Amino acid sequence: MGYRDLREWLAIVDEFGEIKRINGAHWRLEMGGLADVIYREHPGTPPAILFDEIVEYPKGYRALFGQISSPRRLALTLDMPLEYDSMMDFIRAYREKIRVLDPIPPRVVGKTVAEENLQEGEAVDLYRFPAPIHHELDGGRYFGTGHVVITRDPDEGWVNLGAYRLQLHDKNTLGFYSSPGKHGTIHRQKYFDRGQPCPVAVAIGCDPILWLVGSMEIPLGMSEYDYAGALKGRPMEVVEGKLTGLPIPAQAEIIVEGEVLPHETRDEGPFGEWPGYYASTARPEPIIRVKRVMYRSNPIMTCSQPARPRHEHSFHRAVIRSALIWDELEKVGVPDVRGVWCHEAGGSRLLTIVAIKQRYQGHAKQAATIAAQCHAGAYLGRYVMVVDEDIDPSNTYDVLWAMTTRVDPERDIDILRDTWGSKIDPLVRKPAESYHNSRALINACRPYEWLHDFPPVTETSPELRDKLIAKFGKGILE
Ligand SMILES: Cc1cc2nc3c(=O)[nH]c(=O)nc-3n(C[C@H](O)[C@H](O)[C@H](O)COP(=O)(O)O)c2cc1C
Repeated sequence: MGYRDLREWLAIVDEFGEIKRINGAHWRLEMGGLADVIYREHPGTPPAILFDEIVEYPKGYRALFGQISSPRRLALTLDMPLEYDSMMDFIRAYREKIRVLDPIPPRVVGKTVAEENLQEGEAVDLYRFPAPIHHELDGGRYFGTGHVVITRDPDEGWVNLGAYRLQLHDKNTLGFYSSPGKHGTIHRQKYFDRGQPCPVAVAIGCDPILWLVGSMEIPLGMSEYDYAGALKGRPMEVVEGKLTGLPIPAQAEIIVEGEVLPHETRDEGPFGEWPGYYASTARPEPIIRVKRVMYRSNPIMTCSQPARPRHEHSFHRAVIRSALIWDELEKVGVPDVRGVWCHEAGGSRLLTIVAIKQRYQGHAKQAATIAAQCHAGAYLGRYVMVVDEDIDPSNTYDVLWAMTTRVDPERDIDILRDTWGSKIDPLVRKPAESYHNSRALINACRPYEWLHDFPPVTETSPELRDKLIAKFGKGILE
């Protein structure tokens, strides 16, 4: 089921019946508030929300939330079959897809759909677009949340795409918060170390695959364009930015080019973040001086809203991060991993559960340590729990049962100290001089030494269950 751009993608999602259209919401708190309520309180699969007739904006200037917050929308975006029996089946299928990925570099084309409208120099006016104030205590409007920020490594030349929040400071200035260790931060710092400005491009309303890979831990040195191309089996199309020379998605709705100057900062935030708190106060962060903007007529501004989980993007991040951690475990030789789930309640980062079939003493500890420190799991985690293969890591009840019955807290919990934390951690003490954190590695497997003598589970065997159902009928389960 192919699509060329966000509009064709939306037409397919419309056929799924997965778009909720809301007209007349205000950019100030109403779009964000509605998204927050819908994504946390929706009883079933939450739809994508397409806002139109946004207060103070012309009809047709739209804002899209929740692009890939359902299994079908995520599968469509990843170019995968649409139906799965269980969450683990979905993750398994995606893991198979990324097990061997041949990077496909982007293809430069002559034109972008965003060429329909141009703002340059003094004419740049970012207020033209309905950037929301997402949460009640936010420090301002956020122009970039469902977007990618494009930078190039000045030494090695590779191009990174990262979803780093962009506050709307004024008509041609954006706050650029990317945390230490992120690839965009490393690129920016390399320019600053040479005393040079860092060229930056921003693309909003691209193929959702680009936002997806831009917001996930793709290996250092590999461009997200190549990774997205590999997932799609065809090159992503880009145009060369007139100002920056950076490759920019040709099918983006809004394209911004500018530069970040060393030593130039403005107070950024606060912003409600994915752990569910306004953890960091406003503080100085670098800014992008915007020099050039192109946009499609009637542009669609893609937005994404972190909040108290379950939130607008916790689902796709749980699926993708689970598969990435599983892949990294396998690649460093941890055998018999049977499932991984980065629980949405921890913002898809703070609680990772790994299921293994134990093969040797220390297997569980090995899996826990690597899951806590591999690329996809290293940033701002808190708990990694390893369970036996009879536990479905995505089934919270099963996981809590394993934890409460197979963990001896004194013996089975280890602490890693001084690990990669973040200013957005609500547990960072003020003033935030240091923001590294610690990790609990929880071995919730049966002790390996007495695996076979561990008390049997009081559970009706599958054979007896089948017999009972055959005799008394499926109706007994209703
Ligand atoms: C909606 C959204 C907003 C995000 N905002 C930020 C941000 O402001 N700063 C940041 O460092 N990471 C942010 N992230 C996480 C990064 O996108 C993610 O860590 C990604 O892997 C970064 O790319 P990199 O690995 O190429 O550095 C955000 C993710 C999402 C989905």
